[in-house]
Amino acid sequence: MDHRVIRGGLAVRSRRHMLLPVLHEIQDRAGWVSRGALEYACRRLSIPPAEAYGVVSFYARFALEPGRARTEHVCDDIVCQLAGAHPDQGVNCLGLCDRAPARLDEKQAPAAESVRYPDSRLLRRVGIVDPGSIDSYREHGGFKALRRARELGAEQVIRQVTASALLGRGGAAFPTGRKWESVAKAQARPHYLVCNADESEPGTFKDRVVMEGDPFALVEAMAVAALAAGCEKGYIYIRDEYPVARRRIARAIEQSRDAGLLDIDVEVRRGAGAYICGEETALFNSIEGKRGEPRNKPPFPVEVGLFGRPTLVNNVETLVNVLDILNGEFADTRLFCVSGHVKHPGVYDIPLGTPLRLLLERAGAGSIQAVLLGGAAGSFLTPEQLDVPLSFEGTRAIGATLGSGAVIVFDATADMKQALLRIARFFRDESCGQCVPCRVGTKRQEEILERMFANGRGQADVMLLSDIAQAMRDASICGLGQTAANAIASGLKQLPVLNA
Ligand SMILES: Cc1cc2nc3c(=O)[nH]c(=O)nc-3n(C[C@H](O)[C@H](O)[C@H](O)COP(=O)(O)O)c2cc1C
Ligand code: SF4
Ligand code: FES
Repeated sequence: MDHRVIRGGLAVRSRRHMLLPVLHEIQDRAGWVSRGALEYACRRLSIPPAEAYGVVSFYARFALEPGRARTEHVCDDIVCQLAGAHPDQGVNCLGLCDRAPARLDEKQAPAAESVRYPDSRLLRRVGIVDPGSIDSYREHGGFKALRRARELGAEQVIRQVTASALLGRGGAAFPTGRKWESVAKAQARPHYLVCNADESEPGTFKDRVVMEGDPFALVEAMAVAALAAGCEKGYIYIRDEYPVARRRIARAIEQSRDAGLLDIDVEVRRGAGAYICGEETALFNSIEGKRGEPRNKPPFPVEVGLFGRPTLVNNVETLVNVLDILNGEFADTRLFCVSGHVKHPGVYDIPLGTPLRLLLERAGAGSIQAVLLGGAAGSFLTPEQLDVPLSFEGTRAIGATLGSGAVIVFDATADMKQALLRIARFFRDESCGQCVPCRVGTKRQEEILERMFANGRGQADVMLLSDIAQAMRDASICGLGQTAANAIASGLKQLPVLNA
């Protein structure tokens, strides 16, 4: 058809995973995904058009009509609303909450990196090292951990990671060493390594800061993880709204490979505007060229993950911690993203267990009405709860969670009703729609809140909200539905202004 040999069968069907990269390429060149272009991609990749349409229409970033694709975005999510963004006029959190109200022009060159993090362990090179130069990374201690890992061998590396008691930083706090060991021991081959850099939880931007400021650290950590868990191929799945991080990581991979420091093939994959693709199994489906719908678990990714093979999936911050473990410089600190009504929004690297109040003082918070801890899937805290230690156990004791490390501060001027409505809209927007409690529950939750805030709080609505929350928690397939009512329930319970 186009003067080339067309191949069929398994060889072509196994290229289904190229669907999202191809769609991005089409949209980047043509500005949208026309029916003709989609059908052509379907023929070349041997995908039924109806199936491909289901995929392209799932992702917010792909435009099926001319003029609909956007490369400029204005955020109107929780933090940006606090900074004056008009409700209902923009997109969900862009991961730029430290610069709220945030606007992203994907085509513009990044501003010069000016932020420094002088007393941070994990971010010590950010703003100091040249993110585009492997030599600069080496001059600042880079690739020492990989050398050490090669000397120690896989088993010893896993032993050290396990001994450090590092817990995953992606939200679920799963022991990292245990995960690495399970993948290393899995019989089926190949083993895949996936770095989850989808970071779309409102109020969260730490992985962006790491990837933009110290990209070689993530690449080195990927090389260590692959060595330890015996992974033959790696992917870094980066949300589409992080173009600077994507470019810098791609360059770091290239330079590391050329220098003989990366034994496996690591591919950068672009997300396409779906928060749910941060859920690990939805992320696998997305890489495989499918709709980003979570899978039922078990089986867990360490046994049946990407392409049905044993897969090690870790968050960016989790992986970068491993370098310090091998270099003997590890301390159990954690990155917190502080935003909202504070003088110094940004990423803070503080020891786990530090009282929230101390963090807020460092960030320059004044009088506080409420704090949203853990992002949209987290919970609201009152001024009386600010002494909570920022640890997994400490927050659990008051029914909260550290989640993704988001700390959003609301002073007395904040409109808490708007904040709750924005959270409800976020979940209604981002539910993948696969299971009924979440698909219907997130919609009803938003409607009831709107009614309550417009007409006053009737007992029937309060009961209804609580029933919906219970159904979503008990019967949703994945964490999105299971947590979609948390922040709203905690806000309604704790914040007096919402009970007026
Ligand atoms: C709705 C939803 C969104 C998630 N988003 C992210 C994300 O953006 N980044 C991330 O690392 N983990 C995210 N997770 C958690 C992942 O499923 C997974 O637990 C994590 O990537 C494992 O890495 P870790 O062990 O290093 O924490 C999300 C989970 C859910 C349920
Ligand atoms: S809980 Fe929501 S986001 Fe998760 S699978 Fe079900 S519908 Fe999709
Ligand atoms: S960038 Fe607007 S809320 Fe995060």
